[in-house]
Amino acid sequence: MAAAILKGLSEVPIKPGSKVLYLGAPVFEDARFPVRYRSIVPEVDTVYSDIAQPDQARIIADNLDMFLCGSGDFLLCVKARSIDVTREPQQIFMEEARVLEVRGYKVAKILPLDPYEMDHCMIIGTR
Ligand SMILES: C[S@@+](CC[C@H](N)C(=O)[O-])C[C@H]1O[C@@H](n2cnc3c(N)ncnc32)[C@H](O)[C@@H]1O
Repeated sequence: MAAAILKGLSEVPIKPGSKVLYLGAPVFEDARFPVRYRSIVPEVDTVYSDIAQPDQARIIADNLDMFLCGSGDFLLCVKARSIDVTREPQQIFMEEARVLEVRGYKVAKILPLDPYEMDHCMIIGTR
């Protein structure tokens, strides 16, 4: 998040009082299976995902479908090297954004995070 702010994220969608589902610390469950924690997570204003997995956009989209409120937004930190070390990060960023669009979400920004986080970007969007 700090890298995204330094790279020009002028408006952070998380506001005082926002309900946020953060995926990036496997304290209670595996983010790949939102149905397993559906009973303990309410509807949220923002989903923020920062996990090293090969299918990062698919995972956040499954969580958005289940938990994001109607006017909510999302932040997805894409780690290109966790998806494919042999391919151009920029191409991977576009493909992950496309996964979200195909799932019905609007992508507002794709911010590359270098030099703070190499081969990472932040995808910001809404329902
Ligand atoms: C880059 S770290 C997040 C670091 C965190 N943003 C911080 O500043 O401490 C990625 C995290 O995703 C978690 N993770 C990886 N796969 C996961 C999964 N399937 N479900 C939940 N968490 C996962 C890892 O355990 C790791 O803690």
